[in-house]
Amino acid sequence: MPQYDFLQTYTLKNGATLKNRVAMAPMTTKSSYYNGALTNDEIRYYSMRSGGVGMLITGAFSVHPLGKGFEGGPAVWNDAYLCQLQRLANVIKINDTKAIIQLFHAGRKSTTAILRGEQPVSASAVAAEWPPNSEEPRALSENEIDEIIQDFAKATRRAIQAGFDGVEIHGANTYLIQQFFSPHSNRRTDSWGGRRRERMRFAKEILKAVKTVISEYAKTDFILGYRLSPEELETPGIRLEDSLDFVEEIQNDIDYLHLSIGSYNRTSLNNKNDTVPLVSHFKKVLNPSVPLITVGTIKSPADAQAAMALGADFIALGRSLINEPKWVQKVETNSEKSIRYQLNPVDMDDLAIPAGMQDYLLTTYKDAIDFTTNTVKQEFGQQMAPMEGYKKQ
Ligand SMILES: Cc1cc2nc3c(=O)[nH]c(=O)nc-3n(C[C@H](O)[C@H](O)[C@H](O)COP(=O)(O)O)c2cc1C
Repeated sequence: MPQYDFLQTYTLKNGATLKNRVAMAPMTTKSSYYNGALTNDEIRYYSMRSGGVGMLITGAFSVHPLGKGFEGGPAVWNDAYLCQLQRLANVIKINDTKAIIQLFHAGRKSTTAILRGEQPVSASAVAAEWPPNSEEPRALSENEIDEIIQDFAKATRRAIQAGFDGVEIHGANTYLIQQFFSPHSNRRTDSWGGRRRERMRFAKEILKAVKTVISEYAKTDFILGYRLSPEELETPGIRLEDSLDFVEEIQNDIDYLHLSIGSYNRTSLNNKNDTVPLVSHFKKVLNPSVPLITVGTIKSPADAQAAMALGADFIALGRSLINEPKWVQKVETNSEKSIRYQLNPVDMDDLAIPAGMQDYLLTTYKDAIDFTTNTVKQEFGQQMAPMEGYKKQ
């Protein structure tokens, strides 16, 4: 086997051993049924991409019906979903891949149409700046906030019962948890808003509730990860120093930290004088016992090595695993030359990409996917990628 750093094993502080340092990045397939139930197509898609990576993080599952952010999103909001969650965990856990389910609530990044007539909710009644003409959400009551925290805890209990190896709390990509931390979307004057400390409270209470469930129901090596977006472009908005401070606050509660960035070597979007890569900033504040997962346009093994050299302990592959489900296995067997770096639309069925996802890739993400048929190639470089929640730059 080649001697790449990302092929080495890693043991988390809770005792769980990952067979390598490659994660599949969470990617929504938009292919669940109208009620959030998983389809066989999705299960096949994940199954084809498991077995090589050390951990596979699923696309975002909604913890509550009002947390649905898009059509075709999967649900984990009641026990009726346990059987299918178990099926999903089982197909992922082959050949020692750890199955991690991502849990989220979309908050204001939804619409009345997606919520079947219900108004989207958020920390405050402030519409998102992106996409244009986003609906104004209604502010959650304190009781509702407590309920959502419990929804994350209940979803974690279901994940444990279904046999997942861990959960990732989705605090990134401008969804509800980020909305509470952001001074743009959180204008509350009660104990859930105000200064940075108060705006952190929602995320911290979710981690506390989730940890309680884990200690009650799971084995000690159950994994609790957290994903965040380092910066926002809106004013007011989250700045890098806010996120670094936030990480110092939560790091004792998590087993790994996962950044959401479109390019692994990106530097600050707000402070152009800062030439230190974001990943290096996070590595510096993190306790060495909490590994850092980085992501963003990692295509080749050389990219993966370069991302690790900036300070990451793990790399996550998103689009590269859409194109090439056997990326890790090909690297391990010295077959790098046969890695598929582009996606030919006619291969999408063979690659088990569900029909709902094919449509999504060919439309919303057309410029983000390296299709063989693309005439313009989009690299995000030092810009925010559409997958991060997106604000036009
Ligand atoms: C089709 C698609 C769906 C995505 N869905 C999610 C998601 O459900 N949760 C999440 O945290 N990130 C999501 N992302 C972002 C990816 O996890 C990843 O951060 C991003 O694609 C950059 O990595 P890459 O360059 O390796 O693709 C999605 C990205 C794509 C392309």
